[in-house]
This record gives sequence, C-alpha cells and structure tokens, in this order.
Amino acid sequence: MSLEGRVVLVTGAAKRIGRGIALRLAAQGARVAIHYHRSEAEARRTAAEAGGAPLFSANLERVTEIERLFQDVAQRMGRLDGLVNNAARFTRIDPLAITEQDWDFVHAVNLKAVFFCCQQGARLMRQSGGGRIVNISSLGGLRPWADHAHYCASKAGVIMLTRALAKAFAPQITVNSVAPGVIPFGPLDDEARRLVEVTPAARGGTPEEIADAVIYFLNASEFITGQVLAVDGGLSQR
Ligand SMILES: NC(=O)c1ccc[n+]([C@@H]2O[C@H](COP(=O)([O-])OP(=O)(O)OC[C@H]3O[C@@H](n4cnc5c(N)ncnc54)[C@H](OP(=O)(O)O)[C@@H]3O)[C@@H](O)[C@H]2O)c1
Repeated sequence: MSLEGRVVLVTGAAKRIGRGIALRLAAQGARVAIHYHRSEAEARRTAAEAGGAPLFSANLERVTEIERLFQDVAQRMGRLDGLVNNAARFTRIDPLAITEQDWDFVHAVNLKAVFFCCQQGARLMRQSGGGRIVNISSLGGLRPWADHAHYCASKAGVIMLTRALAKAFAPQITVNSVAPGVIPFGPLDDEARRLVEVTPAARGGTPEEIADAVIYFLNASEFITGQVLAVDGGLSQR
C-alpha cells in the first residue's frame, strides 16, 4: 500500500510529535488534515510546510466538537482513510494530592476523546470501505510512573481501547498503537534526564522515529491489528 492521495487526519498536529507525523505523511503523498486546538499560528506553519494542508480546529474534550470535526473532514476532504490520535495532555501530580478536576483534565483528552475520535473516524472510514487508525499511547501506558498514575492509567486505557476496537472494527479497519518513550523538545527536566540515562539507546527519540512507526501501521495490511509498538530506545525492556 502507499500513502499517495490517502486522506489522514492527525490530531494535535500543530507542534512537536504531531507536527513531525503530519510532515512525514505529507512528504509521502498523503492528503493530511491538520487538527489543532489552541496553537493556531503553529498549525498554520505546519500546514504550509505540509504543502498547504487544510486546518481543522476543535476542543477534543467535547464530543459535540469531535462530531463537528469529523463532519468538517468529510465535507472538505470527501473521505477518511487514516486517523492518528496524537493529541494529549501530560501532568505530573502526586496521587495523594490529585483532585477530580486533575483526573478529568487528563482523561477527557487522553482517553475519552481518543474513543470518540475512533468512533467517528470508523464511521467515516466504513463509508469508503475501510481504513487505518493509529493511537499514540506512551511508555507510561506500559510501565508505572508514580507521579503520573493518572496519565499512566489514561494511556493504559488507550492501549486496551486499541485492542478492543481492533476486534470491533475488523476486518475493514485496523487499530494499532505507537507507544513513544522519551521524545525531548528542548532541555530535559530531571525526570526525563534520568529516563534517558537508563535508555539502552542512550538518547531520546525524535518525532521522525515516531512518524516512521505510524507510517508502518498506516501502510500495513488488515492482518496487523490490535498491536502496540514501543518506540523507546529499548527503555521498556529494562
Ligand atoms: N513527548 C514525549 O516525550 C512523549 C512521550 C510519550 C508519549 N507521548 C505522546 O505522544 C503524543 C504527542 O506528544 P507531544 O509531547 O508532542 O504532545 P503535546 O505537545 O503535549 O500535545 C500535543 C497536542 O495535543 C493537543 N491538545 C491538548 N489538549 C487538547 C484539547 N482539549 N483539544 C484538542 N487538542 C488538544 C494540543 O494542541 P494545541 O497546541 O493546538 O492546543 C497539543 O499541541 C501524545 O499522545 C503524548 O502523550 C509523548
């Protein structure tokens, strides 16, 4: 399979990893739909670099906005072949201090939005015979991090969602997950530095390395579904 001409929506594509994925997909000939929420200026830059890709704005905390987002994609792009659920939130809070609001802040985007984007995406993909969904989870969904218990739970949820939806949407639509290790942007904080120090590859990863794994799943046959690929320099093996 090739990405040439395929319509792929990337959520949270204005900056960082999402931007790297969007640019890589555009370079491979995909028609990329760039989603953003607050980072409009960065999204415009990414879209321009992606060859004038169309922009879509939505607050993914709200299911009504997710529904509107996919209606817009259907209207402006005509179809949907691929969905990369990349948008997320990351906070560090002692589990003894976490509030209901802190919990909902992370889960609304990291887990609830991923589910409803998968639902909307799958409905659209079925109209054109099928498609590919890639959920960006995290090493934190595979390994426990004490001060990120809420984040770890949300990303472990993404991994189980990936496996359950792979069964639900088969065989027309595959659902797989890429679990990044530490992907630094700028100077590392102490926590990230400690993780990089024990990473067998002896460095952090790059958005391009995450994008390569995403492209693998977007191009793979329907025989590869429900899988999680850690792109973490071997950190999950420790
Ligand atoms: N960076 C790492 O080391 C690392 C490690 C493991 C896993 N990951 C995962 O990889 C993915 C990308 O990581 P990243 O560090 O590049 O992410 P990020 O910069 O923290 O977030 C990506 C985007 O998510 C969007 N977003 C957040 N809340 C939203 C909301 N309510 N509605 C719509 N969009 C929302 C933001 O869009 P706007 O800016 O437009 O508002 C943001 O730019 C995430 O799923 C993350 O959990 C990253």
